[in-house]
Amino acid sequence: MYEICPETPADESEVEGLYDLCFAPGRTALSSYRLRDGVPRVADLCLLLRAAGGTLMAAIRFWPAMVGDHPVLLLGPIAVHPTAQGEGLGGLLMRDSLTRARATGHDRVLLVGDAPYYGRFGFIRLDDVLMPPPTNPDRVLGLELRPGAWVGVSGPVLRAPVPKPSDPPAPDSTACTQVAHPKDPAHDRPQRPGPAPDH
Ligand SMILES: CC(C)(COP(=O)(O)OP(=O)(O)OC[C@H]1O[C@@H](n2cnc3c(N)ncnc32)[C@H](O)[C@@H]1OP(=O)(O)O)[C@@H](O)C(=O)NCCC(=O)NCCS
Repeated sequence: MYEICPETPADESEVEGLYDLCFAPGRTALSSYRLRDGVPRVADLCLLLRAAGGTLMAAIRFWPAMVGDHPVLLLGPIAVHPTAQGEGLGGLLMRDSLTRARATGHDRVLLVGDAPYYGRFGFIRLDDVLMPPPTNPDRVLGLELRPGAWVGVSGPVLRAPVPKPSDPPAPDSTACTQVAHPKDPAHDRPQRPGPAPDH
């Protein structure tokens, strides 16, 4: 079994280590990071997938951003430990986080990535949405969490306004999901809400 839980501040260095392992050096120099610098993440959608012993296997993060007056969720990075890639864990995290995003009232998601992978989750190219250069327009993809949510939403992607300093809300430690391995027949059984195990 695996557990998917929101990332907490205590997880930060472990998650950064996983991203460093999975991406080429200099990942934070990508233009999409300029939309993230200094902007708090969407805490309840930043999720970690851990194996039964607690080993971090995969992570996904989301940031708020704006296109015109419209708030968007900026998805990424997502990474799966190299020893477990291709086993469906990335798909688990994508689907779990998008379900949570829809349930918490978000309308639309944006990412920069490979259409052949993200297309399986419903992402399509956004012709009228411009990421900061240099970004290949073919890699600017969007998903509607509410029908029509991307209709009429166009223009450059901008940083979300930074909220006034305050204590960030603590991630809800009960918001964990127990999931079977995607290749396990138990995978399709009901999953959440699942109590967090005692550690
Ligand atoms: C991309 C990533 C998150 C996918 O997670 P995963 O657990 O390995 O993927 P899944 O097991 O859910 O899906 C595997 C399928 O996706 C396909 N796939 C994986 N990466 C792909 C890519 N970049 N482009 C196209 N297809 C891809 C595989 O070929 C496989 O296809 P199949 O189901 O037809 O056999 C993971 O491979 C990873 O961490 N890669 C390195 C970091 C990265 O590139 N992150 C994404 C950019 S933000």
